[in-house]
Amino acid sequence: MNILITGAAGYIGSHSTVELIQAGHHIVMLDNLINSHKVSVNCIEKITGKNVPFIECDLRNTVLVESVLRDYMIDAVIHFAGLKSVSESIKYPIEYTANNIQSTISLLIAMKNSNIKTLVFSSSATVYGEPKYLPLDELHPVSAVNPYGRNKLHIEEMLIDLVASDPLWKIISLRYFNPVGAHESGLIGENPIGIPNNLFPFISKVAAGELPYLKVYGGDYPTYDGTGIRDYIHVMDLAEGHLAALRYINKSAGYLTVNLGAGFGVSVLEVIKMYELVSHKKINYEVVERRPGDVAMCYANVDKAKLFLNWTPKRNLNAMCASAWYFQNKL
Ligand SMILES: NC(=O)c1ccc[n+]([C@@H]2O[C@H](COP(=O)([O-])OP(=O)(O)OC[C@H]3O[C@@H](n4cnc5c(N)ncnc54)[C@H](O)[C@@H]3O)[C@@H](O)[C@H]2O)c1
Repeated sequence: MNILITGAAGYIGSHSTVELIQAGHHIVMLDNLINSHKVSVNCIEKITGKNVPFIECDLRNTVLVESVLRDYMIDAVIHFAGLKSVSESIKYPIEYTANNIQSTISLLIAMKNSNIKTLVFSSSATVYGEPKYLPLDELHPVSAVNPYGRNKLHIEEMLIDLVASDPLWKIISLRYFNPVGAHESGLIGENPIGIPNNLFPFISKVAAGELPYLKVYGGDYPTYDGTGIRDYIHVMDLAEGHLAALRYINKSAGYLTVNLGAGFGVSVLEVIKMYELVSHKKINYEVVERRPGDVAMCYANVDKAKLFLNWTPKRNLNAMCASAWYFQNKL
């Protein structure tokens, strides 16, 4: 298939691009590089041995996006592009909505005008809000507890309306838990612009001596060691999930939401211990106040992904930490 990947130079987009190319798809990468580096395009070409067209463009440029869809005879779109920091979204709610919602509307208009109706959308476990029960399955009620989560929910609702308006659309929203780790080559990984917001790239920089210590937000949660428990999923498992999602929607019209997570939770202290083990480095950390809006525990039920996509995550916490450390050392 000819597939347009938006946000392709970013963390999950770059890993999924590699996976899809290796499965024989023809990929066109699009990104405005607001949170990524163009060098990831060269790295993808190095890993796959293929030339990959890269369009540096803001997704809100509907005219350009439409011409890309037509020129490359695109069959399906995987939509990763967006701003993703919860804390930043609380500080800059209008900018987040302007980027995340407007770029999605622009893409959908371009797709509609070009008669392309197959879409995989990057949603997030954030749409579940405060867990009412665990593990979180797709029937868990949704609610927005921050502007970023509200953006994802709005987009999911837009997609439901779109499918209701025209049954030829085939759309799947993948609700990711916490993607971590890197490609085995160490050439691509999570390398955000500025100080990392996410736990893994932060730990990597502490292990490498680039940041002095890690702040662990909350040591008094009702969990076995007091720190927050999250569902971390290896980014290559996630990339394989996108391949599985594409296979599924090719055969089935309509709208589906599916969790992509590991299906179990680990604590922040467990992550630190594992990272120390694989890196042979001491990770300095300080336990500080809980962050407002953080929950004690959050992890996925991934039965629906098994059932509908025939997908299960394969890589463990050791592989997640080891690949993140290998990538850090190659930066
Ligand atoms: N990483 C996570 O923890 C996580 C968890 C759940 C969901 N998600 C979602 O998955 C998607 C990908 O996340 P990621 O971790 O790869 O983030 P990322 O920031 O590494 O990648 C997103 C890419 O989108 C690009 N982009 C942003 N706005 C754009 C626009 N208007 N036009 C063109 N390009 C634009 C950025 O430059 C970046 O390369 C996002 O939608 C994110 O919300 C991520």
